[in-house]
Amino acid sequence: MSAVTASLCSTLLFVGLFVFVSADQENITAKSGQNVTLTCRAPNSNIRAIEWSRADLGDKYVLLYRDGHFDAANQHPSFKNRSDLQDRQMKDGDVSLILKNVMTADNGTYKCRVIMSGTNNEHICNITLSVVDPPGQTGGDTEDGSVGLIVGLVVSAVLLLAVVVGFLIYRKHQKGVL
Ligand SMILES: *[C@@H]1O[C@H](CO)[C@@H](O)[C@H](O)[C@H]1NC(C)=O
Ligand SMILES: *[C@@H]1O[C@H](CO)[C@@H](O)[C@H](O)[C@H]1NC(C)=O
Ligand SMILES: *[C@@H]1O[C@H](CO)[C@@H](O)[C@H](O)[C@H]1NC(C)=O
Ligand SMILES: *[C@@H]1O[C@H](CO)[C@@H](O)[C@H](O)[C@H]1NC(C)=O
Ligand SMILES: *[C@@H]1O[C@H](CO)[C@@H](O)[C@H](O)[C@H]1NC(C)=O
Repeated sequence: MSAVTASLCSTLLFVGLFVFVSADQENITAKSGQNVTLTCRAPNSNIRAIEWSRADLGDKYVLLYRDGHFDAANQHPSFKNRSDLQDRQMKDGDVSLILKNVMTADNGTYKCRVIMSGTNNEHICNITLSVVDPPGQTGGDTEDGSVGLIVGLVVSAVLLLAVVVGFLIYRKHQKGVL
């Protein structure tokens, strides 16, 4: 594994840790292709409805839960099969959203509105997600490696040829003398 690959791996690891550590903060940064968790916790689990939304989605939701079920009809198509609650039981009021395989189009500010039963209380979470494309893949790295290998082979072949030719000239020269 080359240094570039190693540094790429540690960068990904770092981003992974960052996503984890910053779970309670309002801004999350991820690379496209990652799964991210948008953390939101309601005061308790007496939850009547959960509306995960993003301002530019119109009247569709990232995820909508109400009347005891997940409402797929009102879910925006780009989030179908990609979003889910971290804990469908919503234990201890955990209404965090898991977003799989994020892409740059997922960039934006997400709002979670939790409507609590009993009182008219609601709880709101606000999280900004920034998705960045990973810069220059390992392709250049691999290319460098094979270029190095080819150069090495050519140099070796030239050196070997020089030695053989030199040896033949040397022997011819010796024969001539003898
Ligand atoms: C989130 O980012 C915005 C600007 O993009 C900044 O104003 C805000 O302070 C950040 N919040 C946190 C918790 O880092
Ligand atoms: C994202 O989650 C899916 C399914 O839960 C899993 O198959 C995939 O490997 C995860 N991707 C990453 C980058 O962790
Ligand atoms: C979501 O998953 C279901 C069943 O796994 C599948 O039938 C459907 O085509 C998928 N929808 C999208 C948009 O990928
Ligand atoms: C959420 O963030 C957006 C953009 O930063 C802001 O306009 C909005 O007022 C915030 N909402 C709440 C409930 O904090
Ligand atoms: C959207 O992504 C770009 C980089 O691709 C970033 O600079 C910008 O801050 C992001 N915007 C939001 C609202 O996350």
